[in-house]
Amino acid sequence: MSGHEEARVADAFASKFVAPLGPQLDAFEERISEYLAGDLHCVGLSSGSAALHLALRIAGIERGDEVWISSMTFAGGIFPVIYQGGTPRFFDLDPASWTLHIDRLEEELKRARRVNRIPKAIIPTDLYGQSVELDRLEALASEYGTRLVVDSAESLGASFKQGRKCGTGGDVSILSFNGNKIITTSGGGMLVTRHKKWADEARFLATQARDAAPHYEHSTYGYNYRLSNICAAIGLGQMEVLDDRVARRREIFERYKTAFYRDGIDFMPEPDGYRSSRWLTALIIDPAITGVSREDIRLRLLEFKIEARPLWKPMHMQPLFSGTTYHGQGLDERLFDRGLCLPSGSDMTNEQQDEVIGHILDLLDAKN
Ligand SMILES: Cc1ncc(COP(=O)(O)O)c(C=O)c1O
Repeated sequence: MSGHEEARVADAFASKFVAPLGPQLDAFEERISEYLAGDLHCVGLSSGSAALHLALRIAGIERGDEVWISSMTFAGGIFPVIYQGGTPRFFDLDPASWTLHIDRLEEELKRARRVNRIPKAIIPTDLYGQSVELDRLEALASEYGTRLVVDSAESLGASFKQGRKCGTGGDVSILSFNGNKIITTSGGGMLVTRHKKWADEARFLATQARDAAPHYEHSTYGYNYRLSNICAAIGLGQMEVLDDRVARRREIFERYKTAFYRDGIDFMPEPDGYRSSRWLTALIIDPAITGVSREDIRLRLLEFKIEARPLWKPMHMQPLFSGTTYHGQGLDERLFDRGLCLPSGSDMTNEQQDEVIGHILDLLDAKN
């Protein structure tokens, strides 16, 4: 917490809107829309997963529809495809950005057009705070007549070329304010869309699909997915420090990069013109060169009660998705095998980071 949240929560209590609606929720949606800039409509929801679920429902994903998606993502970024009965096809990452491999995607789109099997939607993931290549993806989605749903759950505060912010892409983008994100509402998410009709439909579906009537009337089914006014108040306080947090995360990333500058260790790249939020510092380590594996590091840190996590396990490697089509050459598999997210919290002090660095250098130096 930044210190700005309690006053906002007190305002929410004073407003008496202890409910999934109210002035703080309206203000939070407006604040995010202002921050992202552009003609966008924002709908505050109970989680990023709920936002993705609604986005897919509104995009018209139904049982059996193909959805093409980055394999390297978190469960919450794929499960909503299953809720809708969609059939995923997984794609590998591009080594230049560690985000969706667009050349491969384009090749497959060409092939799919020949056999009349264009996917209903494409879901690229902004990985670890880095934007996907929005302009190319938007051009492809429009050329091939498919919906583009950008998963920006991990990238609020980051930007693409010319400063275009993450969360502004595609037909719709989704954000997450889960407790581990760069800003949080404890739990929460947002659907951001350029289509006003989609935002209206999201609000309708997120509040149990109530038709206009004095009694409860339903011509379709909905969900209880709206963000609480109290949680939105936390979000308003957090927005005051978003830019500082991005600056701090980028600083933490650079400090790690300087400390571990050596053969066999590579950090997540940042293409020219992009500005990652560096939500998590992600690196890969080659044990054949350094003599140290990512598990050696993870376990050493754990001895000192410091948590580090392997990079996401690609979805095509998960038992749940065994046998699902995968287009790629296994970059994501190698990243999982060798990759680690280091402690990256914005409130981590330099001394705490130096402790992490020290434990890792001890391991590396012992092998050299
Ligand atoms: C890429 C990605 N998509 C979706 C989600 C789901 O968001 P939430 O946890 O708010 O449901 C997350 C993270 O939590 C994520 O990292």
